[in-house]
Amino acid sequence: MPQLDLYRIPTGLPEPVLTRLSGLLSPDERVRAGRYQFEKDRRRFMATRGAMRTILGALLGLAPERVAFRYGEQGKPALANARTGSPLYFNLSDSGDWAVLGITTDGEIGVDIEALRPIPEIRSIAERFFSPTEETWLRALPLHEQPWAFHRMWTCKEAYLKAVGSGLSLDTQSFAFDFTVKPARLIGADPGWTMIEFTPAPAYAGAACVLGQGWEISLRDWAP
Ligand SMILES: CC(C)(COP(=O)(O)OP(=O)(O)OC[C@H]1O[C@@H](n2cnc3c(N)ncnc32)[C@H](O)[C@@H]1OP(=O)(O)O)[C@@H](O)C(=O)NCCC(=O)NCCS
Repeated sequence: MPQLDLYRIPTGLPEPVLTRLSGLLSPDERVRAGRYQFEKDRRRFMATRGAMRTILGALLGLAPERVAFRYGEQGKPALANARTGSPLYFNLSDSGDWAVLGITTDGEIGVDIEALRPIPEIRSIAERFFSPTEETWLRALPLHEQPWAFHRMWTCKEAYLKAVGSGLSLDTQSFAFDFTVKPARLIGADPGWTMIEFTPAPAYAGAACVLGQGWEISLRDWAP
């Protein structure tokens, strides 16, 4: 049975922990950290990247600093370290106070989490990013259900974009999910992709997109 491990990482870490984690970053990651305009984004990047190195390093039997990444055309990180046995696939997402790192040996993965927040312009964002079928489904829901449904739809679509690694290069209206079922199901092309919907924390939506059926999921807290 394919297995997906989801690690929940707090992004608001105390200073000494952040200092320790930032010491694990590679030279290019330090340059990137230094480029963030806002301190809170820089801290988030150092926390999540340091945690990701620590978790992957433990699974690879390597010191966190020795974990090496390579990047897809649209920036999707993958492991550059060779591993005996099956390769590790991973993907990370952060929002608000949390990040979630998904790891599996059973194929490509995309993860997205979103903290629930008020979206005054739901209608126009839905028209722009969702397919006509998805947008019609959202519009038909009672008004009070729409914000939650919107976050659910966004995370599922984003998890798919992140699984295929296309980022913003793929038109988000070119693929659609059936959201009347839970977990949502991809309609039409690429029937191999499966959506896993989970709750990373109260008032957060979470989705992971993986290949194949019958997944066993674990959600655990990463303690720095
Ligand atoms: C990176 C991207 C794929 C997601 O960005 P995001 O939602 O702001 O951020 P998340 O926290 O979910 O994910 C960021 C992480 O994904 C990973 N990532 C980066 N590029 C990626 C890619 N092309 N594919 C998959 N994962 C990617 C990295 O680990 C990154 O973490 P880092 O910034 O610390 O290096 C973004 O470039 C993107 O394309 N977003 C699409 C937005 C959109 O139109 N969504 C519509 C949904 S309907």
